[in-house]
Amino acid sequence: MDVRQYIQDHAAEFAGALSQWLAIPSISADPARRGDVGRSAEWLKDHLAGTGFPVVEVLGTGSAESAGLPAVYAEWPASDPAAPVALVYGHHDVQPVEPLDEWDSPPFEPAQRDGFLFGRGASDDKGQVLFHALGIRANLAASGAARPPVTVKLLIEGEEESGSTHFADLLRTHADRFACDVVVVTDTGMWAADVPSMCVGMRGVVDAEVDLRGPDRDLHSGSFGGGVPNPLHVLADLLAGLHDEDGRVTIPGFYADVLPISVPERDLIALLPFDEKAWLADAGHSGATAGEAGYSTLERIWARPTAEVNGMWGGHTGPGGKTIVPAEAHAKLSFRLVADQQPAAVIAGLQQYFRDRTPPGIAATVTSHGQGVRPCFAAPDTPAVRAGRRALQRAFDASVLFTREGGSGPEADLAEILRAPLVFVGVGLDADQIHAPNERVELALLLKGAEAAAYLWDELAALAGELTSRRGQRAGRARR
Ligand code: BES
Ligand code: MN
Ligand code: MN
Repeated sequence: MDVRQYIQDHAAEFAGALSQWLAIPSISADPARRGDVGRSAEWLKDHLAGTGFPVVEVLGTGSAESAGLPAVYAEWPASDPAAPVALVYGHHDVQPVEPLDEWDSPPFEPAQRDGFLFGRGASDDKGQVLFHALGIRANLAASGAARPPVTVKLLIEGEEESGSTHFADLLRTHADRFACDVVVVTDTGMWAADVPSMCVGMRGVVDAEVDLRGPDRDLHSGSFGGGVPNPLHVLADLLAGLHDEDGRVTIPGFYADVLPISVPERDLIALLPFDEKAWLADAGHSGATAGEAGYSTLERIWARPTAEVNGMWGGHTGPGGKTIVPAEAHAKLSFRLVADQQPAAVIAGLQQYFRDRTPPGIAATVTSHGQGVRPCFAAPDTPAVRAGRRALQRAFDASVLFTREGGSGPEADLAEILRAPLVFVGVGLDADQIHAPNERVELALLLKGAEAAAYLWDELAALAGELTSRRGQRAGRARR
Protein backbone atom coordinates (compact mmCIF):
# COMPACT_ATOMS: atom_id res chain seq x y z
CA MET A 1 0.00 0.00 0.00
CA ASP A 2 1.34 3.45 -0.76
CA VAL A 3 1.90 6.17 1.81
CA ARG A 4 -0.86 8.48 0.58
CA GLN A 5 -3.46 5.70 0.49
CA TYR A 6 -2.58 4.54 3.99
CA ILE A 7 -2.92 8.07 5.33
CA GLN A 8 -6.28 8.62 3.59
CA ASP A 9 -7.54 5.34 5.01
CA HIS A 10 -6.58 6.40 8.53
CA ALA A 11 -7.58 10.07 8.35
CA ALA A 12 -10.75 9.75 10.45
CA GLU A 13 -8.98 7.69 13.09
CA PHE A 14 -6.23 10.32 13.21
CA ALA A 15 -8.70 13.18 13.71
CA GLY A 16 -10.43 11.19 16.45
CA ALA A 17 -7.18 10.57 18.33
CA LEU A 18 -6.10 14.20 17.99
CA SER A 19 -9.48 15.35 19.33
CA GLN A 20 -9.00 13.19 22.42
CA TRP A 21 -5.58 14.70 23.06
CA LEU A 22 -6.77 18.25 22.44
CA ALA A 23 -9.39 17.79 25.16
CA ILE A 24 -6.60 17.73 27.77
CA PRO A 25 -5.90 21.35 28.85
CA SER A 26 -2.10 21.13 29.07
CA ILE A 27 -1.42 24.84 29.72
CA SER A 28 2.16 24.94 30.95
CA ALA A 29 2.05 28.55 32.14
CA ASP A 30 -0.82 27.83 34.57
CA PRO A 31 0.32 26.18 37.82
CA ALA A 32 -3.23 24.86 38.33
CA ARG A 33 -2.85 22.81 35.11
CA ARG A 34 0.27 20.87 36.08
CA GLY A 35 -1.82 17.71 36.45
CA ASP A 36 -3.23 18.21 32.97
CA VAL A 37 0.24 18.62 31.46
CA GLY A 38 1.07 15.29 33.14
CA ARG A 39 -2.09 13.69 31.72
CA SER A 40 -1.21 15.02 28.26
CA ALA A 41 2.22 13.38 28.53
CA GLU A 42 0.62 10.08 29.59
CA TRP A 43 -1.87 10.26 26.73
CA LEU A 44 0.94 10.74 24.22
CA LYS A 45 2.98 7.96 25.77
CA ASP A 46 0.06 5.53 25.42
CA HIS A 47 -0.63 6.69 21.88
CA LEU A 48 2.99 6.21 20.79
CA ALA A 49 3.12 2.79 22.45
CA GLY A 50 -0.06 1.90 20.50
CA THR A 51 1.61 3.18 17.33
CA GLY A 52 4.32 0.59 17.85
CA PHE A 53 7.25 2.54 19.29
CA PRO A 54 9.15 -0.11 21.29
CA VAL A 55 10.53 2.46 23.73
CA VAL A 56 8.22 5.10 25.20
CA GLU A 57 8.71 7.02 28.43
CA VAL A 58 7.56 10.07 30.28
CA LEU A 59 10.63 12.04 31.42
CA GLY A 60 10.35 14.34 34.41
CA THR A 61 12.24 17.65 34.21
CA GLY A 62 13.60 20.17 36.69
CA SER A 63 14.77 19.54 40.21
CA ALA A 64 13.54 19.57 43.79
CA GLU A 65 14.01 23.36 43.94
CA SER A 66 12.53 24.00 40.53
CA ALA A 67 9.93 21.43 39.50
CA GLY A 68 9.50 21.04 35.76
CA LEU A 69 6.80 19.62 33.51
CA PRO A 70 7.17 16.23 31.82
CA ALA A 71 8.47 15.54 28.34
CA VAL A 72 7.71 12.39 26.35
CA TYR A 73 10.49 10.37 24.78
CA ALA A 74 10.04 7.54 22.29
CA GLU A 75 12.39 5.54 20.14
CA TRP A 76 11.92 3.18 17.20
CA PRO A 77 15.29 1.75 16.15
CA ALA A 78 16.05 0.94 12.52
CA SER A 79 17.07 -2.67 11.85
CA ASP A 80 20.44 -1.45 10.67
CA PRO A 81 22.31 -0.15 13.73
CA ALA A 82 24.44 2.05 11.45
CA ALA A 83 21.40 3.81 9.92
CA PRO A 84 21.03 7.55 10.52
CA VAL A 85 19.27 8.65 13.69
CA ALA A 86 16.62 11.38 13.54
CA LEU A 87 15.21 13.11 16.60
CA VAL A 88 11.83 14.81 16.22
CA TYR A 89 11.23 17.85 18.44
CA GLY A 90 7.80 19.24 19.29
CA HIS A 91 5.77 20.20 22.36
CA HIS A 92 2.58 18.95 24.02
CA ASP A 93 1.91 21.97 26.24
CA VAL A 94 -0.35 24.76 24.99
CA GLN A 95 -0.96 28.47 25.49
CA PRO A 96 -3.59 29.90 27.85
CA VAL A 97 -7.04 30.35 26.32
CA GLU A 98 -8.33 33.72 27.52
CA PRO A 99 -10.47 35.54 26.43
CA LEU A 100 -12.84 32.57 26.62
CA ASP A 101 -15.90 34.38 25.31
CA GLU A 102 -14.19 34.91 21.95
CA TRP A 103 -14.10 31.18 21.19
CA ASP A 104 -16.89 29.93 18.90
CA SER A 105 -16.56 26.49 20.52
CA PRO A 106 -14.83 25.80 23.85
CA PRO A 107 -11.02 25.54 23.51
CA PHE A 108 -10.85 22.06 25.04
CA GLU A 109 -13.91 20.62 23.28
CA PRO A 110 -12.38 20.06 19.84
CA ALA A 111 -14.84 20.64 17.01
CA GLN A 112 -14.62 19.93 13.29
CA ARG A 113 -16.03 22.52 10.89
CA ASP A 114 -15.41 22.78 7.13
CA GLY A 115 -12.29 20.64 7.13
CA PHE A 116 -10.76 22.43 10.13
CA LEU A 117 -10.28 21.11 13.62
CA PHE A 118 -10.71 23.85 16.23
CA GLY A 119 -9.18 23.73 19.71
CA ARG A 120 -6.20 24.99 21.71
CA GLY A 121 -3.11 23.14 20.49
CA ALA A 122 -4.68 21.99 17.19
CA SER A 123 -1.86 23.60 15.22
CA ASP A 124 0.62 24.60 17.97
CA ASP A 125 1.70 21.93 18.48
CA LYS A 126 -0.33 18.76 19.19
CA GLY A 127 -1.69 18.35 15.66
CA GLN A 128 1.77 18.58 14.20
CA VAL A 129 3.35 16.26 16.76
CA LEU A 130 0.67 13.65 16.17
CA PHE A 131 1.17 13.53 12.41
CA HIS A 132 4.50 11.83 13.07
CA ALA A 133 2.71 8.83 14.59
CA LEU A 134 0.58 8.49 11.46
CA GLY A 135 3.57 9.18 9.22
CA ILE A 136 5.74 6.43 10.61
CA ARG A 137 2.88 3.89 10.30
CA ALA A 138 2.41 4.96 6.68
CA ASN A 139 6.12 4.52 6.04
CA LEU A 140 6.01 0.97 7.42
CA ALA A 141 2.80 0.12 5.55
CA ALA A 142 4.46 1.21 2.31
CA SER A 143 7.73 -0.66 2.87
CA GLY A 144 6.23 -3.74 4.50
CA ALA A 145 9.06 -3.60 7.02
CA ALA A 146 8.70 -3.94 10.80
CA ARG A 147 11.09 -1.07 11.52
CA PRO A 148 11.68 2.35 10.00
CA PRO A 149 14.65 2.84 7.63
CA VAL A 150 16.28 5.29 10.07
CA THR A 151 16.16 5.24 13.86
CA VAL A 152 13.36 7.60 14.84
CA LYS A 153 13.46 9.31 18.23
CA LEU A 154 10.72 11.63 19.44
CA LEU A 155 11.29 14.23 22.13
CA ILE A 156 8.12 16.16 22.91
CA GLU A 157 8.51 18.71 25.69
CA GLY A 158 5.92 20.11 28.08
CA GLU A 159 7.29 23.59 28.79
CA GLU A 160 7.78 25.24 25.40
CA GLU A 161 4.97 27.75 25.83
CA SER A 162 6.41 28.88 29.14
CA GLY A 163 9.97 29.37 27.95
CA SER A 164 11.43 25.80 27.93
CA THR A 165 12.83 26.50 31.40
CA HIS A 166 14.30 23.05 32.02
CA PHE A 167 14.77 21.88 28.46
CA ALA A 168 18.49 22.58 28.01
CA ASP A 169 19.17 20.68 31.25
CA LEU A 170 17.07 17.77 30.04
CA LEU A 171 19.08 17.69 26.80
CA ARG A 172 22.36 17.70 28.68
CA THR A 173 21.24 15.02 31.15
CA HIS A 174 20.14 12.62 28.40
CA ALA A 175 22.55 13.71 25.66
CA ASP A 176 23.63 10.12 25.07
CA ARG A 177 20.09 8.80 24.67
CA PHE A 178 19.10 11.70 22.46
CA ALA A 179 22.21 11.40 20.26
CA CYS A 180 21.18 11.91 16.64
CA ASP A 181 22.39 12.85 13.18
CA VAL A 182 19.58 15.30 12.51
CA VAL A 183 16.94 17.16 14.55
CA VAL A 184 13.55 17.36 12.84
CA VAL A 185 11.67 20.37 14.22
CA THR A 186 7.91 20.16 13.90
CA ASP A 187 6.67 23.43 15.41
CA THR A 188 6.62 25.94 12.56
CA GLY A 189 4.55 26.79 9.53
CA MET A 190 4.32 27.31 5.80
CA TRP A 191 3.67 30.36 3.65
CA ALA A 192 0.14 29.31 2.63
CA ALA A 193 -1.90 26.15 2.09
CA ASP A 194 -1.29 26.42 -1.67
CA VAL A 195 2.32 27.64 -1.36
CA PRO A 196 4.15 24.91 0.54
CA SER A 197 7.39 26.09 2.08
CA MET A 198 10.02 25.06 4.55
CA CYS A 199 11.21 27.13 7.46
CA VAL A 200 14.99 27.44 7.61
CA GLY A 201 15.44 29.70 10.61
CA MET A 202 13.90 31.31 13.65
CA ARG A 203 14.91 34.65 15.13
CA GLY A 204 16.05 34.95 18.71
CA VAL A 205 15.33 37.80 21.10
CA VAL A 206 16.93 39.62 24.00
CA ASP A 207 15.75 42.63 26.02
CA ALA A 208 17.52 45.54 27.69
CA GLU A 209 16.75 48.54 29.84
CA VAL A 210 18.80 51.74 29.74
CA ASP A 211 18.81 54.18 32.67
CA LEU A 212 20.53 57.57 32.42
CA ARG A 213 21.11 59.80 35.44
CA GLY A 214 22.27 63.42 35.38
CA PRO A 215 21.68 65.88 38.25
CA ASP A 216 20.67 64.28 41.52
CA ARG A 217 17.24 65.95 41.34
CA ASP A 218 15.05 67.69 38.76
CA LEU A 219 16.46 71.22 38.24
CA HIS A 220 14.78 74.53 37.48
CA SER A 221 15.34 74.95 33.74
CA GLY A 222 15.65 78.71 34.08
CA SER A 223 18.31 78.65 36.79
CA PHE A 224 20.26 75.66 35.37
CA GLY A 225 19.00 74.84 31.84
CA GLY A 226 21.66 75.28 29.16
CA GLY A 227 24.45 74.86 31.69
CA VAL A 228 24.28 71.10 32.42
CA PRO A 229 23.53 68.04 30.24
CA ASN A 230 19.87 66.99 30.02
CA PRO A 231 19.48 63.18 30.40
CA LEU A 232 16.44 63.09 28.09
CA HIS A 233 18.33 64.93 25.32
CA VAL A 234 21.24 62.54 25.70
CA LEU A 235 18.92 59.51 25.68
CA ALA A 236 17.08 60.72 22.57
CA ASP A 237 20.41 61.34 20.85
CA LEU A 238 21.88 57.95 21.77
CA LEU A 239 18.72 56.03 20.87
CA ALA A 240 18.53 57.84 17.52
CA GLY A 241 22.18 56.95 16.99
CA LEU A 242 21.43 53.22 17.30
CA HIS A 243 20.69 53.24 13.55
CA ASP A 244 22.68 54.94 10.80
CA GLU A 245 21.18 56.54 7.69
CA ASP A 246 21.06 53.10 5.99
CA GLY A 247 19.02 51.63 8.82
CA ARG A 248 21.98 49.60 10.07
CA VAL A 249 22.47 49.12 13.80
CA THR A 250 25.58 50.94 15.04
CA ILE A 251 26.23 48.89 18.21
CA PRO A 252 29.88 47.72 18.18
CA GLY A 253 30.14 44.18 16.84
CA PHE A 254 26.38 43.89 16.26
CA TYR A 255 26.75 42.20 12.87
CA ALA A 256 29.96 40.32 13.66
CA ASP A 257 28.23 36.96 14.15
CA VAL A 258 25.40 37.44 11.65
CA LEU A 259 25.32 34.73 9.00
CA PRO A 260 24.78 36.52 5.69
CA ILE A 261 21.73 35.37 3.76
CA SER A 262 22.81 33.20 0.84
CA VAL A 263 21.97 33.93 -2.78
CA PRO A 264 19.93 30.71 -3.22
CA GLU A 265 17.89 31.50 -0.12
CA ARG A 266 17.28 35.07 -1.34
CA ASP A 267 16.18 33.70 -4.70
CA LEU A 268 13.63 31.37 -3.09
CA ILE A 269 12.33 34.10 -0.77
CA ALA A 270 11.90 36.35 -3.81
CA LEU A 271 9.60 33.72 -5.36
CA LEU A 272 7.10 33.97 -2.49
CA PRO A 273 3.94 35.81 -3.54
CA PHE A 274 4.48 38.75 -1.19
CA ASP A 275 1.76 41.39 -1.33
CA GLU A 276 3.20 44.54 0.22
CA LYS A 277 -0.16 46.32 0.52
CA ALA A 278 -1.76 43.38 2.31
CA TRP A 279 1.29 43.02 4.52
CA LEU A 280 1.21 46.71 5.47
CA ALA A 281 -2.50 46.35 6.31
CA ASP A 282 -1.62 43.42 8.62
CA ALA A 283 1.13 45.61 10.08
CA GLY A 284 -1.43 47.84 11.74
CA HIS A 285 -2.01 49.77 8.51
CA SER A 286 1.52 51.13 8.61
CA GLY A 287 1.93 53.79 5.94
CA ALA A 288 5.24 52.57 4.51
CA THR A 289 7.88 49.89 4.85
CA ALA A 290 11.19 50.81 6.48
CA GLY A 291 14.38 49.08 7.55
CA GLU A 292 17.90 48.16 6.61
CA ALA A 293 18.90 49.29 3.12
CA GLY A 294 19.63 46.56 0.62
CA TYR A 295 17.12 44.02 1.92
CA SER A 296 13.52 43.21 1.03
CA THR A 297 10.81 43.31 3.68
CA LEU A 298 10.81 39.51 4.10
CA GLU A 299 14.61 39.48 4.34
CA ARG A 300 14.45 42.25 6.94
CA ILE A 301 11.97 40.45 9.19
CA TRP A 302 13.43 36.96 8.77
CA ALA A 303 17.13 37.12 8.10
CA ARG A 304 18.34 40.42 9.57
CA PRO A 305 18.64 41.42 13.22
CA THR A 306 16.91 44.47 14.64
CA ALA A 307 17.15 46.96 17.50
CA GLU A 308 13.77 48.30 18.65
CA VAL A 309 12.99 50.97 21.20
CA ASN A 310 9.92 49.60 22.98
CA GLY A 311 9.39 52.52 25.33
CA MET A 312 11.09 55.63 26.73
CA TRP A 313 10.20 57.84 29.63
CA GLY A 314 11.49 60.47 32.04
CA GLY A 315 10.84 64.02 33.23
CA HIS A 316 7.43 65.57 33.23
CA THR A 317 4.67 63.77 31.34
CA GLY A 318 1.65 64.87 33.41
CA PRO A 319 -0.87 67.53 32.48
CA GLY A 320 0.36 71.08 31.92
CA GLY A 321 3.95 72.22 31.72
CA LYS A 322 6.82 71.94 34.16
CA THR A 323 10.04 73.80 33.44
CA ILE A 324 12.73 71.34 34.51
CA VAL A 325 15.95 69.68 33.49
CA PRO A 326 14.99 66.10 34.46
CA ALA A 327 17.24 64.03 36.70
CA GLU A 328 16.67 60.76 34.83
CA ALA A 329 15.80 59.24 31.48
CA HIS A 330 14.89 55.61 30.73
CA ALA A 331 14.22 53.32 27.82
CA LYS A 332 13.30 49.69 27.22
CA LEU A 333 14.80 48.05 24.16
CA SER A 334 14.60 44.66 22.53
CA PHE A 335 16.64 43.03 19.83
CA ARG A 336 15.55 40.36 17.38
CA LEU A 337 18.53 38.19 16.61
CA VAL A 338 19.51 35.93 13.74
CA ALA A 339 22.01 33.10 13.56
CA ASP A 340 24.77 33.07 14.85
CA GLN A 341 24.26 36.07 17.17
CA GLN A 342 24.47 35.45 20.91
CA PRO A 343 22.17 37.39 23.26
CA ALA A 344 24.98 38.06 25.76
CA ALA A 345 27.31 39.44 23.07
CA VAL A 346 24.62 41.83 21.86
CA ILE A 347 24.06 43.12 25.41
CA ALA A 348 27.83 43.53 25.86
CA GLY A 349 27.91 45.55 22.63
CA LEU A 350 25.07 47.74 23.86
CA GLN A 351 26.92 48.41 27.11
CA GLN A 352 29.99 49.34 25.10
CA TYR A 353 27.90 51.69 22.94
CA PHE A 354 26.67 53.60 26.01
CA ARG A 355 30.14 53.63 27.60
CA ASP A 356 31.65 55.08 24.43
CA ARG A 357 29.01 57.70 23.72
CA THR A 358 27.55 58.92 27.00
CA PRO A 359 28.86 62.48 27.56
CA PRO A 360 30.43 63.71 30.83
CA GLY A 361 27.87 64.48 33.51
CA ILE A 362 25.54 61.60 32.64
CA ALA A 363 25.81 58.07 34.06
CA ALA A 364 24.33 55.26 31.96
CA THR A 365 23.51 51.72 33.08
CA VAL A 366 22.38 48.94 30.73
CA THR A 367 20.70 45.88 32.18
CA SER A 368 19.07 42.80 30.63
CA HIS A 369 16.60 40.44 32.28
CA GLY A 370 16.78 36.74 31.59
CA GLN A 371 19.16 35.26 29.10
CA GLY A 372 17.17 35.77 25.91
CA VAL A 373 16.40 33.17 23.29
CA ARG A 374 19.03 32.26 20.76
CA PRO A 375 18.26 32.28 17.03
CA CYS A 376 18.63 29.15 14.93
CA PHE A 377 19.24 28.33 11.28
CA ALA A 378 19.13 25.26 9.06
CA ALA A 379 21.46 25.92 6.13
CA PRO A 380 19.53 25.25 2.91
CA ASP A 381 22.46 23.47 1.28
CA THR A 382 22.81 20.80 3.98
CA PRO A 383 21.90 17.17 3.27
CA ALA A 384 19.19 17.16 5.94
CA VAL A 385 17.43 20.24 4.57
CA ARG A 386 17.60 18.89 1.04
CA ALA A 387 16.06 15.62 2.25
CA GLY A 388 13.30 17.45 4.14
CA ARG A 389 12.55 19.60 1.12
CA ARG A 390 12.28 16.53 -1.13
CA ALA A 391 9.92 14.90 1.38
CA LEU A 392 7.69 17.99 1.44
CA GLN A 393 7.76 18.26 -2.36
CA ARG A 394 6.62 14.65 -2.70
CA ALA A 395 3.81 15.23 -0.20
CA PHE A 396 2.56 18.44 -1.83
CA ASP A 397 3.35 17.52 -5.45
CA ALA A 398 4.82 21.00 -5.76
CA SER A 399 8.05 22.89 -5.48
CA VAL A 400 8.77 23.92 -1.89
CA LEU A 401 10.02 27.46 -1.17
CA PHE A 402 12.01 28.70 1.84
CA THR A 403 10.68 30.86 4.64
CA ARG A 404 11.85 31.73 8.11
CA GLU A 405 9.89 32.46 11.27
CA GLY A 406 9.75 35.40 13.62
CA GLY A 407 8.71 33.10 16.49
CA SER A 408 11.19 31.49 18.85
CA GLY A 409 11.89 28.27 20.69
CA PRO A 410 14.70 26.08 22.06
CA GLU A 411 15.92 24.96 18.63
CA ALA A 412 19.39 26.49 19.04
CA ASP A 413 19.84 24.43 22.23
CA LEU A 414 18.85 21.26 20.39
CA ALA A 415 21.32 21.94 17.58
CA GLU A 416 24.14 22.92 19.88
CA ILE A 417 23.79 20.43 22.73
CA LEU A 418 23.04 17.47 20.45
CA ARG A 419 25.54 18.69 17.84
CA ALA A 420 23.18 17.94 15.00
CA PRO A 421 21.82 19.96 12.06
CA LEU A 422 18.20 21.13 12.09
CA VAL A 423 15.52 20.52 9.50
CA PHE A 424 12.02 21.99 9.83
CA VAL A 425 8.99 20.02 8.76
CA GLY A 426 5.91 21.98 9.79
CA VAL A 427 2.57 22.73 8.15
CA GLY A 428 1.10 25.47 10.36
CA LEU A 429 -0.34 28.62 8.79
CA ASP A 430 -0.61 32.23 9.95
CA ALA A 431 -4.37 31.73 9.58
CA ASP A 432 -4.30 29.04 12.31
CA GLN A 433 -4.66 31.72 15.01
CA ILE A 434 -2.14 30.07 17.30
CA HIS A 435 -2.02 31.65 20.78
CA ALA A 436 -5.39 33.31 20.01
CA PRO A 437 -9.08 32.39 20.30
CA ASN A 438 -10.37 29.85 17.77
CA GLU A 439 -7.01 28.20 17.13
CA ARG A 440 -7.53 25.74 14.32
CA VAL A 441 -5.74 23.50 11.90
CA GLU A 442 -6.59 22.36 8.41
CA LEU A 443 -6.87 18.57 8.68
CA ALA A 444 -5.79 18.11 5.06
CA LEU A 445 -2.53 19.90 5.85
CA LEU A 446 -1.84 17.71 8.87
CA LEU A 447 -2.28 14.71 6.58
CA LYS A 448 0.21 16.28 4.16
CA GLY A 449 2.53 16.68 7.14
CA ALA A 450 2.12 12.98 7.95
CA GLU A 451 2.89 12.16 4.33
CA ALA A 452 6.01 14.33 4.34
CA ALA A 453 7.10 12.71 7.62
CA ALA A 454 6.63 9.25 6.04
CA TYR A 455 8.80 10.15 3.05
CA LEU A 456 11.37 11.91 5.21
CA TRP A 457 12.56 8.68 6.81
CA ASP A 458 13.29 7.18 3.37
CA GLU A 459 14.94 10.38 2.15
CA LEU A 460 17.20 10.46 5.21
CA ALA A 461 18.02 6.76 4.91
CA ALA A 462 19.15 7.39 1.33
CA LEU A 463 21.71 9.88 2.65
CA ALA A 464 23.11 7.50 5.23
CA GLY A 465 26.81 8.17 4.68
CA GLU A 466 26.47 11.93 4.33
CA LEU A 467 24.51 12.22 7.56
CA THR A 468 26.52 9.91 9.76
CA SER A 469 30.05 10.67 8.55
CA ARG A 470 30.65 13.37 11.18
CA ARG A 471 29.41 11.25 14.08
CA GLY A 472 32.80 10.63 15.69
CA GLN A 473 33.62 14.32 15.66
CA ARG A 474 30.24 15.16 17.12
CA ALA A 475 30.39 12.66 19.95
CA GLY A 476 33.85 13.92 20.85
CA ARG A 477 32.69 17.51 20.97
CA ALA A 478 29.47 16.71 22.84
CA ARG A 479 31.42 15.17 25.68
CA ARG A 480 33.75 18.10 26.03
N1 BES B 1 5.46 27.30 17.58
C1 BES B 1 5.72 28.57 18.18
C2 BES B 1 6.78 29.36 17.44
C3 BES B 1 6.26 29.87 16.13
C4 BES B 1 5.44 30.96 16.12
C5 BES B 1 6.54 29.21 14.96
C6 BES B 1 4.90 31.43 14.93
C7 BES B 1 5.99 29.67 13.78
C8 BES B 1 5.17 30.77 13.75
C9 BES B 1 6.13 28.36 19.62
O1 BES B 1 5.25 27.47 20.26
C10 BES B 1 6.03 29.67 20.36
O2 BES B 1 4.92 30.14 20.51
N2 BES B 1 7.15 30.20 20.88
C11 BES B 1 7.10 31.34 21.74
C12 BES B 1 8.26 31.22 22.69
C13 BES B 1 8.03 31.88 24.03
C14 BES B 1 6.78 31.39 24.71
C15 BES B 1 9.24 31.65 24.89
C16 BES B 1 7.20 32.64 20.95
O3 BES B 1 7.76 32.67 19.85
O4 BES B 1 6.66 33.64 21.42
MN1 MN C 1 4.86 25.81 19.12
MN1 MN D 1 3.37 28.56 20.72
